[in-house]
Amino acid sequence: MTAADGVIHVPVMLKEVLDHLNLKKGGIYVDGTFGQGGHSQAILKNLEKGRLIAFEWDKEFSDLTQKDKIFFAPCFCLINDNFANLEEHLKKMGIQEVDGFLFDLGLSSDQLTVTERGFSYRSDSPLDMRISQTTKLSATDIINNYPEAKLADIFYHYGEEKKARPIARKICYWRKKEKIVNSQQLVGIVASCFSHKSNKHPARKVFQALRIFVNSELENLSQALEVALKYLAIDGRIIVISYHSLEDRIVKQIFRKHSGLNFQIITKKPLTPAPQEVQENHRSRSAKMRVIRRKE
Ligand SMILES: C[S@@+](CC[C@H](N)C(=O)[O-])C[C@H]1O[C@@H](n2cnc3c(N)ncnc32)[C@H](O)[C@@H]1O
Repeated sequence: MTAADGVIHVPVMLKEVLDHLNLKKGGIYVDGTFGQGGHSQAILKNLEKGRLIAFEWDKEFSDLTQKDKIFFAPCFCLINDNFANLEEHLKKMGIQEVDGFLFDLGLSSDQLTVTERGFSYRSDSPLDMRISQTTKLSATDIINNYPEAKLADIFYHYGEEKKARPIARKICYWRKKEKIVNSQQLVGIVASCFSHKSNKHPARKVFQALRIFVNSELENLSQALEVALKYLAIDGRIIVISYHSLEDRIVKQIFRKHSGLNFQIITKKPLTPAPQEVQENHRSRSAKMRVIRRKE
């Protein structure tokens, strides 16, 4: 199956995003994480004589714009690249100021469930985990070649996995017998390190850690946020929706570092989805939204 076969991704905290973006006539906006274009579509519908530039790193998803004619509008362009390269693209387009940025981090529902790239611990597919095939190392390369100590560090730092060391040890033991190439092989090894049953999946943290590491997700986020702050117009906003504590911590720290004279943090505490949204869209349950505004 491919992404085009479709699981619908419901845009998270859509009303809050539109309220806080505060779209103004003729404004320039950037959606750093196009996905299935849910947020982009709503922005375009509410945009009056402005421009929307969207980024999507996953080639399979950046082809999805064909789905809706709204994406053929001349005020919209989609760039198939890492949002970490934001500045390079803004410069190329001659853009000096942006009125609003949105980063809705992580993966979309269909990347997790439909693409066969090993993102999900619930299905069996090749252990790849690269959002973009231009990334050099896949999860298979890392799991089969990295030294035990390095694997343990990855699981601990990017997954906050307490059993990082025994898991890394078992992986190194099993990979000598047979190369680990599928997601369920890894799930089996990780699960064997846990003796008691929990209602959370035992491989959840290891999969999160590998995905973050393979795609340099935390570095990309820091880089893009610094550029977004640099290009933000007066009264412009940056909105970030994150889904785990490592991302949220980075957003909080970068916003704090810049708050004061020129920037105002709009969300002292992160906003979370209303209970009804969580009920209707389970994926939104861990969302945290932070907003910063340029004062002058
Ligand atoms: C949660 S989804 C966004 C969903 C979107 N807001 C919507 O309403 O359909 C995140 C998207 O960001 C993309 N992405 C993740 N990291 C990226 C990066 N560094 N640069 C560009 N796109 C990225 C993923 O491929 C995924 O499609």
